Amino acid sequence: MRTKLLVLLAALVPAAAFSAGGEVALDHVSVDASNKPALQRGARNFVNYCLGCHSAKYVRYNRVAADLGISEQQMIDNLMFTGERPHDTMRIGIDPEQAKRWFGVLPPDLSLIARSRGTDYLYTFLRSFYADPSKPTGVNNIVLPGTAMPHVLWNLQGVQQAVWEGHPDAQGNVQKHFKEFELTTPGTMSPEEFDSFVRDTVTFLEYIGEPARLQRESLGFPVLAFLAFFTLLAWALKKEYWKDVK
Ligand code: HEC
Repeated sequence: MRTKLLVLLAALVPAAAFSAGGEVALDHVSVDASNKPALQRGARNFVNYCLGCHSAKYVRYNRVAADLGISEQQMIDNLMFTGERPHDTMRIGIDPEQAKRWFGVLPPDLSLIARSRGTDYLYTFLRSFYADPSKPTGVNNIVLPGTAMPHVLWNLQGVQQAVWEGHPDAQGNVQKHFKEFELTTPGTMSPEEFDSFVRDTVTFLEYIGEPARLQRESLGFPVLAFLAFFTLLAWALKKEYWKDVK
């Protein structure tokens, strides 16, 4: 029985450690969706660099404006380019059929991507494109090998090469493992600036995954405080009513 349990546990460990990321360890990022300046920068990054191909069809512009703490006019001036109205949802400019023809797959809607993949995955994925001339897009990705997504942030990040290392296994076959990236052509941002650009973008994706969360979290404490107060009140009342009943 104990050995069976151990075998079962051992079988579960790698699955947990490598879920979503294939063989690659994901870089950890901590995002704070209540940080309004980060959210505003993330929203700007998203509309400028992602919305061309990816929709966020569960998200309305005016909801974003309210949650980001900007006016509707600021929203229209800075985040809306193609004549949408404030109560519209964030849809893509290109025709889905055409996108499918270009990329072979439809770029997925990103409304819920942070919930399905997790923020560490998104943060690592967006920073893990590397030059691969054998691919139609000229790039490949360590986290999602063979991806159809082009490296849309290459002018910011620059071009990086993947460095591999080989370890012969028990049979003497050499297994190729990813070691690190080497930045061969710098982009317009330093690596630190690029990381924080991606972190802001992921913060926005985390926020759109559950816009109500900000309100839910800020409501939580007053609701619990009210319940605690009400419990005390009910208890005091009960004591008062039963005082004379022997
Ligand atoms: C030029 C079009 C294009 C742009 C712009 C673009 N993407 Fe993509 N993206 C794609 C395509 C195509 C796929 C599908 C890739 C696949 O399945 O191999 C994809 C897939 C993804 C995925 C899913 C990865 C997975 O694990 O399935 C994420 C996350 C993503 N994109 C995020 C972004 C973000 C964030 C931006 C903006 C910084 C962005 N994309 C900009 C075309 C684009």
